[in-house]
Amino acid sequence: MNIYVCIGSSCHQNTSYFVMKEMKHLIGENSLEEKVRLLPAFCLGGCGDGVTIKIDDELITGVGMDNVTDLFKARVLNACL
Ligand code: FES
Repeated sequence: MNIYVCIGSSCHQNTSYFVMKEMKHLIGENSLEEKVRLLPAFCLGGCGDGVTIKIDDELITGVGMDNVTDLFKARVLNACL
């Protein structure tokens, strides 16, 4: 599984650095380094409300520190179990 976190200017202003850092932490905490690759991406075309990420081919907008953990559990952890 590949997770792309947008680091474009709009998402950067919306805390993409912290979202990326938290994703990295969650991947490590759940020992998913062999299954999940975390990659930066430039503008994914979903600028606006929160950070945009892409999990494989699925674009997800509105990501932030308030929902990144729940999102990780629902979309990443469940898929890797
Ligand atoms: S800058 Fe992140 S989607 Fe455009």
